[in-house]
Amino acid sequence: MPNSPITIAVDGPSGSGKSSVSRAVARRLGLAYLDTGAMYRALTWWCLERGLDLADQTTVAAAAKDLDLRLSTDPDAPEVRVAGTDVSQEIRTTRISGQVSQVATNLGVRAELRRRQRALVEELRAARGGVVVEGRDITTVVAPDAEHRILLTASEEARLTRRTTELHGTSTQEQLAATRDQVVRRDRDDASVSAFFEPADGVHGLDTSHLSFEESVRAVLDLVAHGATHP
Ligand code: DC
Repeated sequence: MPNSPITIAVDGPSGSGKSSVSRAVARRLGLAYLDTGAMYRALTWWCLERGLDLADQTTVAAAAKDLDLRLSTDPDAPEVRVAGTDVSQEIRTTRISGQVSQVATNLGVRAELRRRQRALVEELRAARGGVVVEGRDITTVVAPDAEHRILLTASEEARLTRRTTELHGTSTQEQLAATRDQVVRRDRDDASVSAFFEPADGVHGLDTSHLSFEESVRAVLDLVAHGATHP
């Protein structure tokens, strides 16, 4: 565990590799791991479970306030529970991925989840020496004072291929075309409330298009250790 607490904030669009890379970095540095996207996904699951209309912004924002959410921050065993139910697998399905933007672009929801995320970051800094926290607005809004702020990017082609392979194990032309609509549309919708395609001032941009998973992890670890990447 490092001597003084650290926060490593990682943002990026879908398919940039931020979740797997952030988890690996947390594991290697012995830090907690906080997946803020899982919070938006868990809320979406809960609203659908209760039959709420996701377009009803006031009701969905109220549901965010009442949400009984438990997140494991162990990078080796990420688990998400809503009102006691383990939804870790369910929140990754296309049913949730296809609707989560509607919840994530609700400003009342964002205010509530941002409040919880900031409190969790403070708690994990005190209890675990630090945290790798990933999402879309971490470097800019949730933890703009983080010791390390990194934006992972990748070309649309690289992101699509990664997402398709994650979903299907392969990436045929048909699979790529089906994934394209989902990924591109979701990023466009999400980008209407957070800027995660260009690094903000003071944020390190890291293009992973041509990096393997291991190279991406190393590049982030280099940034954390030296404040720069080594080619
Ligand atoms: O990273 P992910 O695909 O699990 O994120 C799920 C959704 O939540 C996605 O639509 C982007 C949104 N999100 C967000 O708006 N802000 C965050 N900090 C994290 C995720």
